[in-house]
Amino acid sequence: MGTVKYTELGLVNTKEMFKKAMEGHYAIPAYNFNNLEQLQAIVIGCVESKSPVIVQVSSGARKYANQTLLRYLAMGAVQMMKDMGGNIPIALHLDHGDTFELCKSCVDSGFSSVMIDGSHHPYDENVALTKKVVEYAHANNVTVEGELGVLAGIEDDVSSEVSHYTKPEEVEDFVKKTGVDSLAISIGTSHGAFKFKVKPGEEPPPLRFDILEEVQKRIPGFPIVLHGASSVIQEYVEMINKYGGKMDNAVGVSEEQLRRAASSNVCKINIDSDGRLAVTAIIRKVFAEKPGEFDPRKYLGPARDELVKMIKYKNEKVLGSAGKA
Ligand code: G3H
Ligand code: 13P
Ligand code: ZN
Repeated sequence: MGTVKYTELGLVNTKEMFKKAMEGHYAIPAYNFNNLEQLQAIVIGCVESKSPVIVQVSSGARKYANQTLLRYLAMGAVQMMKDMGGNIPIALHLDHGDTFELCKSCVDSGFSSVMIDGSHHPYDENVALTKKVVEYAHANNVTVEGELGVLAGIEDDVSSEVSHYTKPEEVEDFVKKTGVDSLAISIGTSHGAFKFKVKPGEEPPPLRFDILEEVQKRIPGFPIVLHGASSVIQEYVEMINKYGGKMDNAVGVSEEQLRRAASSNVCKINIDSDGRLAVTAIIRKVFAEKPGEFDPRKYLGPARDELVKMIKYKNEKVLGSAGKA
């Protein structure tokens, strides 16, 4: 497969998006996708709510979807958006890139933005790796997201969770030395559908906005990224449990906390789990109510429709990105 520039696919990098989001006090949605229906839903939902969007793939998603097909899917997404009469900026982003080679391969195959997640490495190694990716990406006008602080894992004990929060005293040096365009920080969120250890009915602990404020003071006006930002929409969890699933004590970040983050310097909010829940809930419902159904369009279609609804709701009521394209 030859190299291709993202501009040839009709994509944009995140620079302008983040600038406007910072000025307008909202956040750009970054929705993960692995398949056709998820990508269709993201395009439809964001065109209908006139929202700029970052479509992102993890390395696992890239393998799943096939990297060659992904290039054409991205190009198709841009064309589909135009055919719908839309005019929204779309960035294609690598989520949690872990090596220089992976990031380079994505830059070379049409991604407009990459994340190099060196957060598990010692500080100096994170700086060196991130800097190397930035040099290659910037030579191609591709934007780069770095990360400082490790997102808490639900299995960690409390003390190790605390020690993984981003250290505000490191951010200025990191941004200066690496040249990244945005920075993911750890303020208490985690990936997946089980973010907090709470008993049924208990409120999850608030995010560490004090850390976010410290970070903002040290790198004023610099775009911050929030990972692990699904709300774990309870309507879907209940539907999954009702129709044969088992997801006890699944909890996420409240919408109120996300709204607060979106109005600050958080310019990108990552959402994957909520989309997975929406799709799973609807597929389980169709299977339970229509056991004879075996046409994938009859369950993937309604799942896609629900995802469109969810995306429009997020853009309009939580991130504030609706109408900003
Ligand atoms: O941050 C992780 C994303 O939700 C992607 O997950 O690696 O299972 O595709 P994945
Ligand atoms: P969620 O698991 O909360 O959706 O987070 C997704 C994410 O951060 C992708 O990088
Ligand atoms: Zn993430």
